[in-house]
Amino acid sequence: MSAIRSRVEVGGGAESGLSRVDVTSKDHHYAVHVGPGARRLLPAVLEELGVGRVAVVTAVREPRLPDPGVPFTVVPVADGEHHKTLATVETYCRAFVAAGLTRADAVVACGGGTTTDTVGLAAALYHRGIKVVHLPTTLLAQVDASVGGKTAVNLPEGKNLVGAYWQPSAVLCDTDFLHGLSRRELLSGYGEIARCAFIGAGDLRGLGLREQIVASVRLKASVVARDERDQGVRHLLNYGHTLAHAVERATDYTWRHGEAVAAGTVFAGLLAGRLGRIGTDRVTLHREMVESFGLPTWRPADVPVPVLVELMRRDKKGRDTDTGLTFVLDGPDGAELVTGVDERLVASVLADLPTGPAPAAAPGAP
Ligand code: GLY
Repeated sequence: MSAIRSRVEVGGGAESGLSRVDVTSKDHHYAVHVGPGARRLLPAVLEELGVGRVAVVTAVREPRLPDPGVPFTVVPVADGEHHKTLATVETYCRAFVAAGLTRADAVVACGGGTTTDTVGLAAALYHRGIKVVHLPTTLLAQVDASVGGKTAVNLPEGKNLVGAYWQPSAVLCDTDFLHGLSRRELLSGYGEIARCAFIGAGDLRGLGLREQIVASVRLKASVVARDERDQGVRHLLNYGHTLAHAVERATDYTWRHGEAVAAGTVFAGLLAGRLGRIGTDRVTLHREMVESFGLPTWRPADVPVPVLVELMRRDKKGRDTDTGLTFVLDGPDGAELVTGVDERLVASVLADLPTGPAPAAAPGAP
């Protein structure tokens, strides 16, 4: 185990070494390693897991792709929300057959959140479950998507509607991967970091990027430890996501996930305010938090409010028996799941949210 042990300096701000966050759920335990060069732990991780060969699903090329240290096959990635489909899962599984993967082998997913979500689902299904190691290459994937075991693909009817819980065996968040990202891609990750302030991580604005990643992963690990399968407290991680998923779907994913989460966070603050759950200062903090990361505080101008409401009705947090919509909302005791929110109120608060262009078309967008 010593080969993959890294210095634990969570929140410590040390300049060298890697930070390690442990994720423990009922049946699983794994480490998330964060820092420059974390990808180089891959051979030691695979050796520790005792796998014979791997399929590496990736668009990343040498030298940034680490040598896994065991026989491997590179499977070309189909990246992006439009490829997050059951058809892509089938393509990957067929590639795993061609690579000769058995249940004793493993898959490595190297890419953004859509890659770790889709490859994670393929790993959950192939031979009824094969180990997967994530090497997230975007900020969004490092702070959220690659950790916690949620895997899913989209249907034409909505986002993440088909999936499984399948925990990775390790996550290597190599911050070197983030250097080449566009500003917009980085901002998308900041959408998930911004919403952490309202679900227990505190204000992360003053921290360096690596510390922000570690704090987000720590928060997620603490939530997943208590509720791996979304039966209760894990709903908190969906702060801002009810509107976000509707915005992504309604704009055909022109809005990136983190951008939509940012708008959803501002909306969640406004809605909590209208319900009398929080005061105006706290409502304002939602907007300021999002704004300070340079993220959109508006909803798409070209999507009518009733379309967003209809899409939000399909949210997975809702149940058949619920009347009204379901949101995670801030309140006197912190954020919690709130059911039965009147659709007319939701529509009225949405109407109050300013409208604006898709972030790519916003002035100054990269
Ligand atoms: N991204 C929300 C969750 O993992 O539960």
